[in-house]
Amino acid sequence: MELKGKKVLLRAVEEEDIEMLRVLTNDPEYESMIVGWAFPVSKKDQAEWFANIKNDLSRLRYTIVTEEDGPVGMIGLRDIDWKNGVASGLGMRIAKKEIRTRGLATDAWMTLMRYAFNELRLNRINGSALAYNKISLHVCEKVGFKVEGVQRQAVYKNGEYVDRVMLGCLRSDYEAVVAATNYWENDNG
Ligand SMILES: CC(C)(COP(=O)(O)OP(=O)(O)OC[C@H]1O[C@@H](n2cnc3c(N)ncnc32)[C@H](O)[C@@H]1OP(=O)(O)O)[C@@H](O)C(=O)NCCC(=O)NCCS
Repeated sequence: MELKGKKVLLRAVEEEDIEMLRVLTNDPEYESMIVGWAFPVSKKDQAEWFANIKNDLSRLRYTIVTEEDGPVGMIGLRDIDWKNGVASGLGMRIAKKEIRTRGLATDAWMTLMRYAFNELRLNRINGSALAYNKISLHVCEKVGFKVEGVQRQAVYKNGEYVDRVMLGCLRSDYEAVVAATNYWENDNG
């Protein structure tokens, strides 16, 4: 099912999206901001990745789409644990740098959380960010994540060890954000 937010639509990853994701994955500035890392991804690698991905009961991937700009990024959930109602965030990213800071990642998270908490009946989403990724930490805290700890020097980037901030968002944290901001006012989705 597609998920409709206030600014974005979350839909399945289509073949037309994969070059945007490949270019971003190969961008050193992008890799410097994320916890993970990758060897360079060729068009052939990317096509093979696309041929093999599918949403399943433990992993959900969405392309973030806007009316004006089409596919602009990605968000999702991984390691969904149905017994405990816990999942982890998967790769929040807005690939088109010129349209960052317009609230798209915030809306993508709010939209995904509404589905995760209200439809999938999850109770908690785990997240993490590099300590210097202030934008990511700001977005996460805005949508309800709380800092739960720091893994010291957990990630090696650009010649130095970096702390990894561990985050968690409970259903009640998300609901408090919705109530405080009237986020879904006039929205029946
Ligand atoms: C992190 C990312 C997804 C945010 O996307 P976005 O669409 O620009 O996010 P939003 O517009 O919803 O929110 C950005 C917020 O950061 C704030 N911000 C901008 N620069 C900032 C800074 N230097 N420090 C702190 N906050 C900052 C903006 O003001 C905005 O907050 P506001 O709405 O309260 O004013 C995007 O920057 C990105 O793709 N980065 C590269 C990948 C990445 O870092 N992913 C996260 C991995 S954990």
